[in-house]
Amino acid sequence: SWRFFSQLRSRPERSSFGIAFDIDGVILRGRVPIGGSPQSLRRLYGDSGTLKIPFLFLTNGGGIPESRRASELSDLLGVKILPSQVVQGHSPFKGLLKRFENELIVATGKGEPSLVMSEYGFKKVLSLDEYAAYFDNIDPVSQYKNWTTEQAFNRCNISMDLVPRYNVFSESVKAAFVISDPVDWGRDIQVLCDILRSRGLPAENNRHQPALYFAADDLEYQAAFPAERLGMGAFRIALESIFNRIHHSALEYTSFGKPNPFVFKNAETILRQIQASCHDDNVVGTEDMVSLDFKTLYMIGDNPVVDIKGAQQAGHPWFSILTRTGVFREKENHAEFPADLVVDTVEEAVEYILSREG
Ligand code: G3P
Ligand code: MG
Repeated sequence: SWRFFSQLRSRPERSSFGIAFDIDGVILRGRVPIGGSPQSLRRLYGDSGTLKIPFLFLTNGGGIPESRRASELSDLLGVKILPSQVVQGHSPFKGLLKRFENELIVATGKGEPSLVMSEYGFKKVLSLDEYAAYFDNIDPVSQYKNWTTEQAFNRCNISMDLVPRYNVFSESVKAAFVISDPVDWGRDIQVLCDILRSRGLPAENNRHQPALYFAADDLEYQAAFPAERLGMGAFRIALESIFNRIHHSALEYTSFGKPNPFVFKNAETILRQIQASCHDDNVVGTEDMVSLDFKTLYMIGDNPVVDIKGAQQAGHPWFSILTRTGVFREKENHAEFPADLVVDTVEEAVEYILSREG
């Protein structure tokens, strides 16, 4: 039969390379595409709009569910991005579901932190906005801020007359998640210190510190402003320094995101799944395709200590490309974490990859 014959002939090989794109400082600055990113991404699709080259976005940013980020990116960049192609700093939080699925947890950061965690399956999530709103005077300077408790409630879509959704006065928070850059550092540091420390109440004296997770640890990143902005790593330092001064034992926490090697391992696994769904226009069925180990995976980033260090630590098959559109602006390669290639823009990076891969 044709099927038998198709097993005998030499089977077509899938593309043996893939690409991971950093977002901030490579693809976008704020919400503006940079470095020729829309036209570069278009080159990774066939004429019929099907994906030809396996690629994904590997960002330490976040704040909204991957599905929403995918459609936002599709609108901004003019290509069809699937949710599976978006790996954000907080994406690995899904892996903590077993441990905290039915526990009271708090999530903070720009965007919609509680929606992100609820979509991962966590059942009892409060945003820090909502949590704080249940405690009168928890932020002693809130009246000087141009956003109010009422706005916080409106943002959370809950009525101020309602009793808390969970008993925040008796049930202790089991974990706090910083999913994206915090909006109100002062308030968040205060309330996280409240949640994380034993406050001298008899029942709480010997209580172990609730778990604390950060989606990433970027000290600085490239946003819309010309100079780098302080990122989640800077917030972590602020929280940690203060907590360690007011508490008897040092802050315990876990940070996810690049440059952790497991982020690159996970990206490789996802790229393999994306590779399996890439169609060559002249190939009849995907079952005839050979799933290859990647010969090369390209990481295109703007931050040497995050993107390039991460790709280097991950080792084979990662190949790092550093652009000059974000945190890094030097003429020569970065001294401590030199990339395999330095280019001006993501467009140059994609041009290099496509001609190298023939
Ligand atoms: O807040 C986002 C920032 O920390 C980094 O984003 O896309 O450069 O990894 P990205
Ligand atoms: Mg970046």
